[in-house]
Amino acid sequence: MKVLVAYESRGGRTKRAAEAIADAVRTSGLEADVWPLKEAEPDQVRAADVLFVGSWVEGFLFFGVGPAKAARQWVAGLPSLSGKHAAVFCTYALNPRGTLAALGSGLRAKGASIDGEAAFHHRRPTEGSAEFARRVLAAVLGEPA
Ligand SMILES: Cc1cc2nc3c(=O)[nH]c(=O)nc-3n(C[C@H](O)[C@H](O)[C@H](O)COP(=O)(O)O)c2cc1C
Repeated sequence: MKVLVAYESRGGRTKRAAEAIADAVRTSGLEADVWPLKEAEPDQVRAADVLFVGSWVEGFLFFGVGPAKAARQWVAGLPSLSGKHAAVFCTYALNPRGTLAALGSGLRAKGASIDGEAAFHHRRPTEGSAEFARRVLAAVLGEPA
């Protein structure tokens, strides 16, 4: 089983979370690639059995709080993910509000099933990431976490 961890990060916190998730996946004995969204090619996305998508939380005065614009655009431009397992995560400073729900519904609209979600505070972007990765893999494999 091949896992792709794709993330949008400006200041490096979401990148740290993504790398910690990929490390935990590898510790479980699976192959994991980790890429910034802009370098994650559609072919790589298609080849992955499990896709983790992460973003930082971006607040807009009129549009509210959600995934960073680049992440929303990347998800909207994805090919069909019919039957693919996916999980979403974010890093935030104050409150992630609907960020994970928005990322999840964008991926569901492409046909993915969402097997987990996690929000990490930006001061501790890796705390709980290994547990999150294990929980998602257990859900994908249909095993108890
Ligand atoms: C322009 C901008 C807007 C932000 N808006 C919010 C927000 O509305 N709510 C929140 O919890 N964090 C907000 N943050 C904080 C970031 O989501 C947080 O610091 C995140 O961990 C940054 O991730 P990165 O280091 O991967 O870029 C904002 C950060 C920036 C730069």
